[in-house]
Amino acid sequence: MKEAARQARAENHLVGLVPTMGALHEGHLSLVRRAKQECSRVYASLFVNPKQFGPNEDFAKYPRTFESDAAQFAELGVDALFAPAADDIYPGGFSSYVNVDGISDRLEGRSRPGHFRGVATVVLKLFEIAQPDFAYFGRKDAQQVAVIQRMVRDLNLNVQIVVCPIVREADGLALSSRNAYLNPEERRAATILYRALQAARAEIAAGTRDALEIQNRIRTVFNSEPLARLDYAEVVAADDFEPVARVSRASYVLVAAHLGKTRLLDNMLVEIPEKNPTELVCHI
Ligand code: PAF
Repeated sequence: MKEAARQARAENHLVGLVPTMGALHEGHLSLVRRAKQECSRVYASLFVNPKQFGPNEDFAKYPRTFESDAAQFAELGVDALFAPAADDIYPGGFSSYVNVDGISDRLEGRSRPGHFRGVATVVLKLFEIAQPDFAYFGRKDAQQVAVIQRMVRDLNLNVQIVVCPIVREADGLALSSRNAYLNPEERRAATILYRALQAARAEIAAGTRDALEIQNRIRTVFNSEPLARLDYAEVVAADDFEPVARVSRASYVLVAAHLGKTRLLDNMLVEIPEKNPTELVCHI
């Protein structure tokens, strides 16, 4: 991978990297398609990163579908697939980590201690190895994107982060490799995350700006679905993920919920132009 990266630099290619943990779905493929439009060399990585899973999380059972993932990357014209072994990334005695303080401690970071340290560390290593000009991430993991953007800024990394829209099933469920864990009843109930965000969007469109009111609206929607357990419903500033009392300029409405043993995330980005607040846009 390092040799391919060195050659691409020497040939003045614009390099795009799509980091993944495999078990590909349309969301991942949309990142590759976007990278193909914007870059003359596109690399993908496939690495189920042990350092971003907690001791009681799903590292062992995380879906591993290397053959079909590799075929899909090849079909989309990915120029190189980097699929290292854990020992290549974390050799014996590995002891250097990236901590992005603040953003990493809240929400997902609170529910999954150490998760963002694992993400930031592996993503920095992937950037070092592949030397991309652009790296592509999905907005479904909005806090992950914020952590990576902050790391890139703080450490002066020479890569531009491209954030791509959430890809959804026809019934609104955001695509995620973890959707494969859901049984048929949980799968049906899982649309509750999307339905709650739609209700929040309707509130905001009707003029509500108060975060508590929006959170309560989401909780009410969740109360109608006994199979789902809401973990959090939060309104935060898009740049630092600090909770806000009112939606303003750029905010995320975030939900995390358990469907049986599976934990799912979803979010909506709300943008309110300062000059023209009526031209509000909600990206679900
Ligand atoms: O979003 C993911 O799939 C992973 O967190 C990432 C960015 C590939 C790092 O392991």
